[in-house]
This record gives sequence, C-alpha cells and structure tokens, in this order.
Amino acid sequence: MRGKITDILFDESQINSRVAELGAEINADYAGRDIFGVCLLKGSIIFCADLVRHIKVPIRVDVMRASSYGSNTESSGSVKILQDLDIDIAGKDVLIIEDIVDTGRTLHKTLELLTVRHPNSLKVCTLLDKPSRRVEEIDIAYRGFSIPDKFVVGYGLDFDEYYRNLPYISVLDPNG
Ligand code: PRP
Ligand code: MN
Ligand code: MG
Repeated sequence: MRGKITDILFDESQINSRVAELGAEINADYAGRDIFGVCLLKGSIIFCADLVRHIKVPIRVDVMRASSYGSNTESSGSVKILQDLDIDIAGKDVLIIEDIVDTGRTLHKTLELLTVRHPNSLKVCTLLDKPSRRVEEIDIAYRGFSIPDKFVVGYGLDFDEYYRNLPYISVLDPNG
C-alpha cells in the first residue's frame, strides 16, 4: 500500500526559491568560516544535495543515518542511529541538514550525540518544521517552511520508502 497523494503543499519552484534563500542566509552567517555539513539520511538526501549547491563558503559534507519511523506514518518514539559520521567534528562548525522536524526526537538524539564531541558550533537547518507535533524542543537556526499536522511526502520524504523522488512536497493519505 502506497497511500494516495492529495494536496501539493510546495511545488518545485517554491522549493527551489526557498532553498536558495536558505543558502544565502547560511552564506552570510558563515562568512569567513568553514561549514561541516551533516546530511541526515535518508530523508535529507534531496534537500541537502540542492542546498549545498547554494553554499559559497567552504563546506565539507558527511552523512549520518538515523531512523525513527520504520514503515509507519507515526514516529515509533525510539530513534536509532544506523550509521555514524566518518569524520571527527571536534572544533568544527557543524550544520545538521534535515528534511523535517516533527516530534523532534530524531534531532534531539542526534544533537545529544554530536554535542559531546565538542564541535565549535552546532546548528540545525531543516526544510520543514511541523511544530504542532513537537515532543523534544529543538532550536532551529534555518527553517524552510512551517507545515500543519499532515503527513507529507516528496523531495526526500517517504512513506514506506516510496515518494522520495517526487520533485514537490505533497500531503499523503496513507489509507487512500
Ligand atoms: C523522518 C524524517 C526526519 C524524522 C523527523 O525520518 O526524515 O528525520 O523522521 O521525525 P521526528 O522529528 O519525529 O523524529 P525517518 O525516521 O522516516 O527516516 P528516513 O529519513 O530514512 O526516512
Ligand atoms: Mn529522516
Ligand atoms: Mg522516513
């Protein structure tokens, strides 16, 4: 069952212009510094790939894989770190690049893990923010869009691994 795509929340051009704006904000804030980007797999693959092409300051990118949802539309509540970074982040200006902050559990766990490694700074950039579902408070430095409490897919976000390929972000009716 792959559910049914209903309303499109953000189309390709809305996403592109917002991602470019986020890139410009990041470039201004990190002027004169190096960024160590952390792409949180798998949801942020598309966003990260697009965002980093707007970054004009030196940036390195590593990946980390966290999972909480499994094949459900509801977060399981237990976040697993399935793959850690390759590179030591001590002293670095770390920017976590994430597709969506929902309950906040994934980022809470990730931030907890990375903080103890003593980066010089640690900030979060997320394309989507669903504040109504927050369980763990997360300080979001860069936010693409705030969205209502709807299950969304596309542009990296999945339902049972499908729909990451959609160039737009859409609401999904899992029972449709
Ligand atoms: C999704 C999404 C975020 C997280 C947000 O990942 O990509 O990482 O859930 O939810 P939270 O704020 O409630 O933790 P998922 O666990 O589905 O793994 P995926 O990125 O591989 O799809
Ligand atoms: Mn994810
Ligand atoms: Mg997922």
